[in-house]
Amino acid sequence: MSKKLVLVKPKSEFAEDIKKGLTSNIKEIPSYHLYGEKGDQLFEKITLTNEYYPTRSELQILESYAFNILMHSGSDEKAPTIVELGSGNGTKTEKLLNKAVEVYGKCNYYPVDISQQSLLLLKNRLSKFEHCLISPVEANIYENLEFLPRIQSQKLILFLGSSIGNMGIDKSYSLMKRIADNMSPHDKLLIGFDLAHNGNKPQEIINRAYNDDGLVTAQFNLNLLRKINNQLGGEFDVGQFEYYSHYNPELKRQESFLKSKIKQDVRISDLNLTVRFCKDEYILTEFSQKFDLEMIAKMAGAAGLEQVDSYTDKNRYFINSLFIKT
Ligand SMILES: C[S@@+](CC[C@H](N)C(=O)[O-])C[C@H]1O[C@@H](n2cnc3c(N)ncnc32)[C@H](O)[C@@H]1O
Repeated sequence: MSKKLVLVKPKSEFAEDIKKGLTSNIKEIPSYHLYGEKGDQLFEKITLTNEYYPTRSELQILESYAFNILMHSGSDEKAPTIVELGSGNGTKTEKLLNKAVEVYGKCNYYPVDISQQSLLLLKNRLSKFEHCLISPVEANIYENLEFLPRIQSQKLILFLGSSIGNMGIDKSYSLMKRIADNMSPHDKLLIGFDLAHNGNKPQEIINRAYNDDGLVTAQFNLNLLRKINNQLGGEFDVGQFEYYSHYNPELKRQESFLKSKIKQDVRISDLNLTVRFCKDEYILTEFSQKFDLEMIAKMAGAAGLEQVDSYTDKNRYFINSLFIKT
């Protein structure tokens, strides 16, 4: 069962962001532009690499605790309406949907993503869930969460995959606050946090997740230049850039870049722009913040959220925290 796509159209911000990002002193492009075009499929490939533990860890958590999470979020008779922010391919969420149908006989699912392509793929993949009503929403969740209160039933809002860490700590906090502001008192919010290095989790485990041997993550990042070529008339010679990513233990985050191998000028005709690169100059493509329990508690408290439960995988590399609004 599935409804037609509900469009909350994101602004045409790709061109604007590329112009701003490539003309600033320190070149950077918001990480959500890594998705769309081939980006969604490449990210799916990353999640299947041996090195990328976050997806496997969170999948294990959702497999083990789907029932507990649903019981916390719905009532004995009625499943919560599941709303997923940045839903991607929804593979992990299938565990919750399966359990909801098993326990309650049916469920409602609103996947929300900035990538229309991603939503269409997800909708087709989940068409096998006959007892699940799927209502995709295309929206930029950093700009538009007003659809949340319009979904009036008791909700379980998901923000998985540690996507909360992809925008820098200030934006993570402000997004948590905006989600909290748009929650009703009976709603629950489940956020997936990738944990920072600690006595149990070596830095190298994190670093390797972004530096897989098959170079899939490198391709995912370099695809951004191809996207600029295809969508904005860019003339990037992708072979003249390389991917570089390292873990910063002080700031507890993985930092990913594209590096220009040579001094070069690149024309982007639709922007009427020529971008000058020095040799070894970087474009920041993503900070992937990692968290410790203290950081999570501090951010949640300041955002007006109270943790009611939390779940970890066997290795304790990843945590899913369940919140209510205070
Ligand atoms: C890292 S993937 C995670 C997907 C899935 N939640 C998971 O855990 O595997 C991030 C997803 O969020 C989407 N996304 C990124 N920025 C977004 C934004 N500002 N608004 C809505 N969706 C966004 C991307 O299109 C992508 O599908």
